[in-house]
Amino acid sequence: MSRDSGLENLKKLERDVIGFQKLAEYLRLETGINLNLSDKNQTLLASRVLKILPNLGFADYSALHAALISGHRDARDLFINIITTNTTHFFRENQHFDVLGRVARDLLSHPEKKKTREIRVWCAACSTGEEAYSISMVLNSIFPAQDGWNLRILATDIDTDVLRTAIRGVYPQEALDSVPEQYRSCFEAGKGDSLGYARVRKSIRDHITFAPFNLMTLSYPFQSKFDFIFCRNVMIYFDRPEIHSTIRKIEGCLRLGGFLFIGHSETVVGVTPGLKSRAPAVYERLKVIRKGEAA
Ligand SMILES: C[S@@+](CC[C@H](N)C(=O)[O-])C[C@H]1O[C@@H](n2cnc3c(N)ncnc32)[C@H](O)[C@@H]1O
Repeated sequence: MSRDSGLENLKKLERDVIGFQKLAEYLRLETGINLNLSDKNQTLLASRVLKILPNLGFADYSALHAALISGHRDARDLFINIITTNTTHFFRENQHFDVLGRVARDLLSHPEKKKTREIRVWCAACSTGEEAYSISMVLNSIFPAQDGWNLRILATDIDTDVLRTAIRGVYPQEALDSVPEQYRSCFEAGKGDSLGYARVRKSIRDHITFAPFNLMTLSYPFQSKFDFIFCRNVMIYFDRPEIHSTIRKIEGCLRLGGFLFIGHSETVVGVTPGLKSRAPAVYERLKVIRKGEAA
């Protein structure tokens, strides 16, 4: 595609308001992500969709939309992968990792945990993995395997591209700038072709299972409850009804006394009485005593 025809195609997509609205509605229903009609979003959608149309052999929004609603799996994955915003970094909103360390240490004397020695975490929109690895570094130092602890972290995202990066666990050396000094030894520096990159060590990677998962799934399928759930900086893209239903489903996946971490610009206020604020953007799941029920 020449530069001129590329620009022409971009302008054509930008002007297709009906097509925009159809794709935005598909996106909202499929992922919860709300893309309002605005000049900025029209340009964003057009420039991103333009990258996948040739691969799919489609000419315009209308062909893409028809494929999406007919259940074309490749079109769905490509579309979702290009439209999600995956910004993240190690120890993002770093106060959360101090809180995590503090509340996790309390579990060392928890009667049930002393028996089971199992810690379960869900990192629910993990992007390229830095968040899940940050959690693993903190908890690995508190619950060492040699003391019999079984630390299991499930890290999920709807975007299958970011999960591939997450699984490799290889990052440019500069990405380690936000990693506190005490955890720098959790990485091994690359040599030869990998010079300038660092890989998270196996002892930290081994705690984590990365898997695709859509938070819009009607009922979450997890067998046992989590001690900690991180669901940060994803609900900012959702509308109120999707935020509320996501929080309620997440609450149901936390054990009583477990903690939910959300992004600092997000809130669960007014959604459920079962989540009690414990620190900025940190909530503990408590038993809700209903009227007439004994405490
Ligand atoms: C801005 S990143 C946040 C990453 C990380 N949680 C953090 O705070 O650094 C948002 C992530 O949410 C994912 N996402 C968006 N909609 C989703 C959905 N419906 N289900 C699961 N993940 C979703 C995106 O693919 C993206 O990787």
